[in-house]
Amino acid sequence: MDIQRYQDQKATKYEKVRMKQKKWWEENKALIKMLSNENIEHILDVPTGTGRFLPLYEDKKYTIIGVDASKDMLEQAKNKNTSAFLIEGNAFNLPFDNNTFDLSVCIRFLNWFDINDVNKLIKELKRVSNTIILGIRLHKHMIKNEKKGLYRHDNQEFHKILKKLNLKIKDEYKVDNKGYSIFKLTKGAI
Ligand SMILES: C[S@@+](CC[C@H](N)C(=O)[O-])C[C@H]1O[C@@H](n2cnc3c(N)ncnc32)[C@H](O)[C@@H]1O
Repeated sequence: MDIQRYQDQKATKYEKVRMKQKKWWEENKALIKMLSNENIEHILDVPTGTGRFLPLYEDKKYTIIGVDASKDMLEQAKNKNTSAFLIEGNAFNLPFDNNTFDLSVCIRFLNWFDINDVNKLIKELKRVSNTIILGIRLHKHMIKNEKKGLYRHDNQEFHKILKKLNLKIKDEYKVDNKGYSIFKLTKGAI
């Protein structure tokens, strides 16, 4: 993923541009639904970007950690004025012990990576947290948009990863009718 997409003016304009999209608000709805009735104390948002979801966690009084690789995006997140701890870091190599979090949230990230990296990332999220909320675009076979570098992942491959990592789908929110879903996953047999 090219980090330059999230630097300088691209960071300052990130939300303004995307808030016009229907999916932005659908993602928010998915999060609100999935956060309800959860027994959470520690939450990780990675990549947190501009911290768009931080106010949602704040309402619930969690201990919040946001991690992102872009300083400029984290600067935007600081403007949210929440109690979140914001850390510059790499989602693939998180600076936390095993099982530090009750929940990790990973939205608008997996579609920038091939299936091997998707596997690595989900494994890393599973290492640090008990429950994972993630967004992914799925299709009956993998499609890569070469111009943008964006993937729609093979549905079966994704489910194979979940099975291999022993992650169970607890909830799915269909963000659009083009295969973009947000899943809530928990550790346990499928
Ligand atoms: C499309 S944004 C998503 C941000 C947020 N989750 C959202 O839904 O708006 C992708 C973010 O990933 C960050 N990023 C890219 N590579 C990263 C990495 N290896 N580790 C952590 N963050 C990374 C970028 O800086 C950017 O803020």
